[in-house]
Amino acid sequence: GDQAAMPEQINVDIKTLTRFLTEEQVKHKEATGDFTLLCHALQFSFKQIAYYIRRATLVNLTGLAGSSNTTGDDQKKLDVISNDLFIATMRSSGKVSLLVSEEEEEVIYFKDAKDARYAVACDPIDGSSNLDAGVSVGTIFGVHKLAEGSTGTKEDILKPGTELLAAGFTMYGASAQLVITMKGGSVNGFTLDNGLGEFILTHPDMKLPKSRAIYSVNEGNSLYWEDNVKAYFNSLKEAQANGKPYSARYIGSMVADAYRTLLYGGIFAYPADKKSPKGKLRILYECAPMAMVFENAGGQAVNSKMQRMLEIVPEHIHDRSGIFMGSYDEIEKVKSFHK
Ligand code: AHG
Ligand code: MN
Ligand code: MN
Ligand code: MN
Repeated sequence: GDQAAMPEQINVDIKTLTRFLTEEQVKHKEATGDFTLLCHALQFSFKQIAYYIRRATLVNLTGLAGSSNTTGDDQKKLDVISNDLFIATMRSSGKVSLLVSEEEEEVIYFKDAKDARYAVACDPIDGSSNLDAGVSVGTIFGVHKLAEGSTGTKEDILKPGTELLAAGFTMYGASAQLVITMKGGSVNGFTLDNGLGEFILTHPDMKLPKSRAIYSVNEGNSLYWEDNVKAYFNSLKEAQANGKPYSARYIGSMVADAYRTLLYGGIFAYPADKKSPKGKLRILYECAPMAMVFENAGGQAVNSKMQRMLEIVPEHIHDRSGIFMGSYDEIEKVKSFHK
């Protein structure tokens, strides 16, 4: 006879990001709830950006905005719109004192947020050159706490990544994946359930594999690489102990390359080179937040001088750095080529 179809296993104990944040807050006796409210504003930004990205081709939101930003990038319409809505949600939260965005030349100060204690760095759309091709892009964020007694100045965000209170990113891929980590905490991944409109905990306590034969770098820059960088990547193309070379995966959106590296292991790199001696990726809203996620997931992140990425202090808000991040053992191997 026909088996009665098993009812889909319904998880009646779903953990949303909202519930996760409440449980985190309870762990900190002195918590005021301000950080939780800031995270609610952050998650609403991601939901909005996800919505507009999915509709971009339908409502003529692809293509260039006709402007460029202070880091020299041509701005896409979605860069500008995502930036505008991010600023609006940070402002209306009342919890953010100042904001640095890739798309804003100067720091934005929310002077009417009198008792706001947080400084936020943000890359509203990371990988925006991929947008019109429908390739995954993302939003990267970092949260610093203002120094005691500070009324909110640039110095509150020009700090080493070791002082970040929280950092993470949302990748707008097949589904919207939010990855967040708190200072000294674990890395947790959430998937946006469009039906519920909630981020659901799907990847608790993410840990990078200690090694994995995958490398992710733009080989188109190899002409400009320093010799030890060339030597390192060439070594991956030889037969390894198992007789096989590494495989190459490069999407061109840091968030997508980072998310894959976080899940599968391996290394992602954007080395400083003769063409970009200071590197391409920006410290405050790309390198430092990603470095915090990778370290809290058991990996490493270093700059082109093999210094710990989280200890680098940017002088200006759009300062760049070379970066190598990924499986712990793989970064040790990169270091061995930089003796
Ligand atoms: P953004 O779109 O925010 O300006 O960042 C683009 C960055 C990063 O996402 C990616 O890793 C890198 O640019 C790709 O650069 P190349 O195209 O030079 O490889
Ligand atoms: Mn850009
Ligand atoms: Mn970016
Ligand atoms: Mn960007």
